[in-house]
Amino acid sequence: PAAGSLAGKHVLITSGPTHEPIDPVRYIANRSSGKQGHAIAAAAAAAGARVTLVSGPVTLPDPAGVETIHVESARQMLAAVEAALPADLAIFAAAVADWRVADAASEKMKKDGGALPPLSLVENPDILATVAHRPNGRPGFVVGFAAETQHVIDYARVKLAKKGCDLIVANDVGGTGVMGGDANTVHLVTVDGVETWPTLPKEEVASRLVAHLAQKLAAAKAG
Ligand code: C5P
Repeated sequence: PAAGSLAGKHVLITSGPTHEPIDPVRYIANRSSGKQGHAIAAAAAAAGARVTLVSGPVTLPDPAGVETIHVESARQMLAAVEAALPADLAIFAAAVADWRVADAASEKMKKDGGALPPLSLVENPDILATVAHRPNGRPGFVVGFAAETQHVIDYARVKLAKKGCDLIVANDVGGTGVMGGDANTVHLVTVDGVETWPTLPKEEVASRLVAHLAQKLAAAKAG
């Protein structure tokens, strides 16, 4: 295969936010657009990979040539990811909700002029950590994202270890609208060090990341 090629590889990608139901008509969500994850899926397909994209609710079209599985909640995302394994490379770009409502109501909640409804929250499964720590069937290379507003690289190093992944793509989401925006400034954090890229369009971050990862997979195979 040509340099930078992912021909013959299965690449699994998560993208977008998750929606966590409160009742049948309401949910908890976040500002993720899915632009970065979807751009990575398109770039991996362009590099020749078979790509499975597990996407939360987004307004983007399914990328051409990518098998896209649509989910809403974190638990559905985890189930779809596990069903899509094995993979040579997994990239977890979704902004998964940290919490869900403990007992989502099965009927629409009514405001009855009385007490405010309490929302008790429970922690969602960590999809990245679950997959990266699998004793069997762990993807050959696992990439996480870390969106932070301060101490971006320090927090990314902690996350790399805690989640058990091979690379963290850290980005500063403080200030200028990265979430929902078209550009991204990223730092590639591994146990070996940090590589900082200039601010680039999300499509360009995606194609550079795919080329970088194709090289890593080739090197791992050779070494
Ligand atoms: O802990 P934090 O949410 O900052 O970690 C971000 C990374 O972990 C991202 O790669 C995200 O896709 C992944 N993640 C996940 N499942 C969660 C929370 C985060 O896969 N429940």
